[in-house]
Amino acid sequence: MGGKMITIKDINKKLINTHYAVRGPIVQKAVELEANGKEIIYCNNGNPQSLGQKPLTFVRQVLSLLENPDLISKDIGYPQDIINTAKKIIDEDPNGLGTYTQSAGLLFVRKAIAKFIEKRDGIKSDPNMIHLTDGASKGIQNVLTALISKETDGIMLPLPQYPLYSATIELLGGSKIFYELDEGNNWGLSHEYMEKSYKKAVADGIDIKAIVVINPSNPTGGVLDYDNIKMIIEFAKEKNIAIMADEVYQDNIYIKQDFVSFAKVLNNLEINDVTLFSYHSVSKGYLGECGHRSGYVEYRNIPDDVINQLLKMQAVGLCSNHPGQIVIYLLVNPPKEGDESFPLFIEERDGILSSLKKKAKILSNGLNSIEGITCNPIIGAMYAFPNITIPQGKNDFDYCMKLLVETGICIVPGSGFGQKEGTHHFRTTILPPEEKLREVVEKIKVFHGNYGN
Ligand SMILES: Cc1ncc(COP(=O)(O)O)c(C=O)c1O
Repeated sequence: MGGKMITIKDINKKLINTHYAVRGPIVQKAVELEANGKEIIYCNNGNPQSLGQKPLTFVRQVLSLLENPDLISKDIGYPQDIINTAKKIIDEDPNGLGTYTQSAGLLFVRKAIAKFIEKRDGIKSDPNMIHLTDGASKGIQNVLTALISKETDGIMLPLPQYPLYSATIELLGGSKIFYELDEGNNWGLSHEYMEKSYKKAVADGIDIKAIVVINPSNPTGGVLDYDNIKMIIEFAKEKNIAIMADEVYQDNIYIKQDFVSFAKVLNNLEINDVTLFSYHSVSKGYLGECGHRSGYVEYRNIPDDVINQLLKMQAVGLCSNHPGQIVIYLLVNPPKEGDESFPLFIEERDGILSSLKKKAKILSNGLNSIEGITCNPIIGAMYAFPNITIPQGKNDFDYCMKLLVETGICIVPGSGFGQKEGTHHFRTTILPPEEKLREVVEKIKVFHGNYGN
């Protein structure tokens, strides 16, 4: 008599039908090729330190003291402000990084985030309306889980979008309602397209719960201004839906335009009946601390009984990763002018941001110099999403797979993000070092010229 192994028939069909392109078959193939000795340039996801970006010194110094508090009393040459920060954190968090925290996250960290929001936006923020999460991803998944209980529960998503949203909605069995971004208008928002997709969904019996906005945008590289955000908030108010504002790239803007948060515009408009979920993360910006899996969600205009349900969801996972909570504290509380570590912090931060800005230009100019490829300006985030002209009968998946096999460049087909019928794109990051990025452009140029011949 034997046992019975789990088979694929036992697996939730919704999981089987879930697609997550940035870690899909092309990346699996890249890993296989690499194991067989091929050099791979991973441009498939926004993982800055995997492409050589150095962690900020102050972050790692503070973390190292917290991981090993015995070092604090030894003279290891760290700046005094770093030692003071570590001591202050230990005062607030005396049992250290190996403990579970409150489910919402450490209160002193949430207070620091509330202060950061107040300073950034000139508005009030309540630490009790902030939950710390394992990356923004987990906070997004929690809210989608709370909102979707049946197929007719719908979430409006930009097209193209970041596949965390489509994948999670597929997993939960809800409906994705896409609103197209206008590629001909620098991937701008179109009220008309939003209205059109909303009306069609409602006519199809969908109960739309929320609209997702990614600003600055992955994958398009676009950035919204005050009026765009106002338009979305007014749309949400008129339709009685919530807003999920994904603002993980708020420090990655490469033009002379300040980041405008949804929280600020909501506050300025004095709207208190539209629920807002705003997300931030340590993974992007200039920290690039993806591996520390840390982010937060701030809630606005949300009833207590709903917050309690969301807190319960946090509690089911006990708490977010504790060292990660410290990293987000450091993101919102970096060295200050006058601190010994301040000059190095500024040098490292500005070095990373100016290199990203330069690389955004190198990539968009380079791609636009290739016949058959058009790329809108990359004014924010860390990606290009160029339009590619390819022979009839070919598709962007095949294009990206062949590019990988021939050149070792790992990018993601546009189909993984969603694109207008009949168009083809790919998404690449701007993250490789400048010289590698130029090499990427040159290789794509040669490949594109020969593709389909
Ligand atoms: C738009 C967007 N939102 C959220 C995330 C998730 O970030 P994390 O979970 O690392 O904070 C990413 C990661 O690439 C992203 O591009």
